[in-house]
Amino acid sequence: MTYPNLPPLPGSPREIPGPEQAMLKLSYGVHVIGSRSGDGELNAMLADWVMQVSFTPRLVAVAIENDARTLRFIRQTMVFSVNLLHEKDGMEIARAVVMPSEARKIRGRSEDMASQVIDKLAGIAYGVHDNGCPVLDRSLGWFTCDAQAFHTAGDHTIVIGAVTDGDVLRPGEMLIERELGWEYAG
Ligand SMILES: Cc1cc2nc3c(=O)[nH]c(=O)nc-3n(C[C@H](O)[C@H](O)[C@H](O)COP(=O)(O)O)c2cc1C
Repeated sequence: MTYPNLPPLPGSPREIPGPEQAMLKLSYGVHVIGSRSGDGELNAMLADWVMQVSFTPRLVAVAIENDARTLRFIRQTMVFSVNLLHEKDGMEIARAVVMPSEARKIRGRSEDMASQVIDKLAGIAYGVHDNGCPVLDRSLGWFTCDAQAFHTAGDHTIVIGAVTDGDVLRPGEMLIERELGWEYAG
């Protein structure tokens, strides 16, 4: 039996509000969004919030943090790629790309460090698609998109992408967030 009205004991785990708990139960696949700046710089970003939203035409929606480098790059070139991480070894790629490329996004960095830009693609095998965006060699599959619309949604921007190309590279299934053990929800 539980006593929901009792206050939590000091030092006991933080009580997670109901709406957050429910949203943490949502299930996501794990993706890497590839992008390119107007100057030709490439970037890769770990993303859960990707879904198909139309058959005809084939459209996807990706929710991207308003201050992400990826969003800036997509606004500049209007293209991106979505790489589906593989259940077997996608974890290694996820670890390589999880940090923000711009150190200023990491709390507690000194001013000197804050101006640093990390090349998240440095240790990852990839090719560059005709649209200029990186496509990862070890993904389960990938597709490329033309950005069609941007909708502000709180601290994220929903980018609607029209799918222009894509392929499956390996047998198997996608890595899902629950298996990754990291959370991006709530
Ligand atoms: C499991 C996981 C899933 C994530 N999903 C998203 C997402 O869907 N959208 C988003 O904007 N950021 C997401 N992030 C955070 C971005 O990967 C992170 O902010 C990244 O540093 C932004 O990269 P950029 O500034 O180089 O573009 C996620 C992080 C983790 C750990």
